[in-house]
Amino acid sequence: MGVIVYALPGNEVLAAQLVRTLGARAGELVLRQFPDGEWYLRVLTAAAGDDVVLACSLDRPNEKLVALYQLASSLRDDGAGRIVLAAPYLAYLRQDRRFLEGEALTSHSIARWLSGFIDGLVTVDPHLHRIHRLDEIYRVPSVVVPAAPAIARWVRRHVERPILIGPDAESEQWLSQVATLAQCPYRMLEKQRHGDREVEVSVPDLAGGVDRIPVLIDDIISTARTLVAALERLHEAGLPRAVCIGVHGLFVGDAEEALRQAGAARVLTCNTVNHASNAIDVHADIATAVASLLAARPGEPSPPPR
Ligand code: R5P
Repeated sequence: MGVIVYALPGNEVLAAQLVRTLGARAGELVLRQFPDGEWYLRVLTAAAGDDVVLACSLDRPNEKLVALYQLASSLRDDGAGRIVLAAPYLAYLRQDRRFLEGEALTSHSIARWLSGFIDGLVTVDPHLHRIHRLDEIYRVPSVVVPAAPAIARWVRRHVERPILIGPDAESEQWLSQVATLAQCPYRMLEKQRHGDREVEVSVPDLAGGVDRIPVLIDDIISTARTLVAALERLHEAGLPRAVCIGVHGLFVGDAEEALRQAGAARVLTCNTVNHASNAIDVHADIATAVASLLAARPGEPSPPPR
């Protein structure tokens, strides 16, 4: 029994890393959309008896989830062994509570759906807020790759006298790890979100930080309104232009332009979602995590999920 890695479109670089690290074979597929948007799928590399890894980041997830489901179902029907999903960005985690009566708990329903057709999951810093561990909602073994070591390495190499700044209390979980590894101070701002694009941020005491280069770190850059509000407050507080780091850069609409206009010195992201800002490589760490998940044989305890 071997391992075959299949890349969903746009995930070829990660898939190549997985093939190298796992000593796996690269699986070939034909995946395209019919004129009406439905998927056509043909698996050219049969996986009967082999474990498979599907490389598929789940930014802009709606169509990708259906393609992933079709691929996993087809492989399963044809006798594949375990099916592990390597999804550097795991979507649908932010609606983790019913704020208004009748709202769908989409984090839970997507987790249930995915858990029904994969046997293991590897992702990078999922947006866990009111849910604390993936296995609270996913029923398959999962490994979370922290981006903090790679981000800390970048900060140490590129920023002299940094002070790390998180735009809200949620970001402390990532920020504190980066600060420890990069051996620099960090501060949290306070955020209030009033709508998808309406964000207010307030700056607490930055004493001891004004002579340092601010490095804003958030897990997701979506509309970028969170980072824009933070940049504006830091500017008002007299700090130098900030470097902005996102673990996952979704860059919706005018996000990049808004960050430029708000005076970001530089915007960079991890390579969990394809984008020109990808400057921090986490693919090798993802591949190592997939190897550890596959190394746990059925019946043995899998690596601890976070
Ligand atoms: C919030 O819960 C997340 O940690 C990010 O701060 C948020 O997703 C960023 O969104 P946006 O870029 O649209 O402000």
